[in-house]
Amino acid sequence: MSDIKCLSGSSSMSVPGTAFTEDRRPEPGPVTALSDGTTHEQHAEDARIQSDNKLVCCEPSDKIFESVYKTDRFLGQGSFGTVFSAVCKSDGQQVAVKSIWKLKNNTTTVDGCKLNTDVVMMATLQQYPTCPYVIQMFEWFDYPDHIKVVMENPHPCTELVTLIMCRKLDIEKTRIIMSQAVEAVKHCLDHGVFHNDIHAGNILVNTNTFNIKLIDFGCAMLYTEDAYQRNTYRGAKLYRPPEVKSGNSFDGPKTNVYQLGRILERMSSGLRSTECRRLYKKCQSWNPSDRPTFEDLLKDQWLFKPL
Ligand SMILES: Nc1ncnc2c1ncn2[C@@H]1O[C@H](COP(=O)(O)OP(=O)(O)OP(=O)(O)O)[C@@H](O)[C@H]1O
Ligand SMILES: [Mg+2]
Repeated sequence: MSDIKCLSGSSSMSVPGTAFTEDRRPEPGPVTALSDGTTHEQHAEDARIQSDNKLVCCEPSDKIFESVYKTDRFLGQGSFGTVFSAVCKSDGQQVAVKSIWKLKNNTTTVDGCKLNTDVVMMATLQQYPTCPYVIQMFEWFDYPDHIKVVMENPHPCTELVTLIMCRKLDIEKTRIIMSQAVEAVKHCLDHGVFHNDIHAGNILVNTNTFNIKLIDFGCAMLYTEDAYQRNTYRGAKLYRPPEVKSGNSFDGPKTNVYQLGRILERMSSGLRSTECRRLYKKCQSWNPSDRPTFEDLLKDQWLFKPL
């Protein structure tokens, strides 16, 4: 899958972290400085990947952030840090910058290399073939107590949850957004990434084109076909499937399908579409094996109807 030693994506890799009990938000813990330059250097040569002519790599940038970007405005607050927009001084490109505290529970160890989870997952997802519905990372900067991850900033955009709350969706837009979300999540699994926190706040929608970008890989885990232990679920409570509530373990793709069904249900609330209702009900089947697979979803006549 990967020509990046640091990201060889062994699916049996364990991910350190603390279990989230109720909601998706972790308690802010003590700030802990993590990787030193030595660990990074070990993998410097192998960790580079090329994507859309932007050099992306698992190594932090050796530039000075302030010399490359001019910070603009606040975009959002997350559990691990803050997101703001910035402009690249050399070409005027607008980017989003996620500033993330270095905490014990937001790292992923790959081949003995402990790196920030957002960085590991986004770098993995940018390997060929890429997906237009997953946010791209351009580069990242390392500081003693936090990192800054520079990503594409799709604009004009808003969180899907805002469109739902403001009732801005009709059934066709709902179908288009859902079909893209299915492709985005399948792309993650195909690239060895289990997102673990699919919800309407982690999907950005371009308000002109209704194209989406899946964001927020801070809770993601390396995908394994083995069942995950219940206490490794890090998704939102509202999107938690029954087997996580009452069972001991859960399956990655079946959990994602449930979460996608929940998103579809929320998007189509009040829209009265029988086909849509059929699909979100099926995705949220109590028994995970009754839920459609991603292959079934891609063949769904309503969701991917021929133009
Ligand atoms: N690339 C981006 N472009 C524009 N806005 C973004 C981008 N990434 C994040 N945001 C905004 O910042 C918010 C927080 O980002 P994100 O979800 O990645 O943080 P988080 O700390 O992991 O949050 P949480 O775990 O609480 O969901 C998003 O909900 C979104 O509004
Ligand atoms: Mg988020």
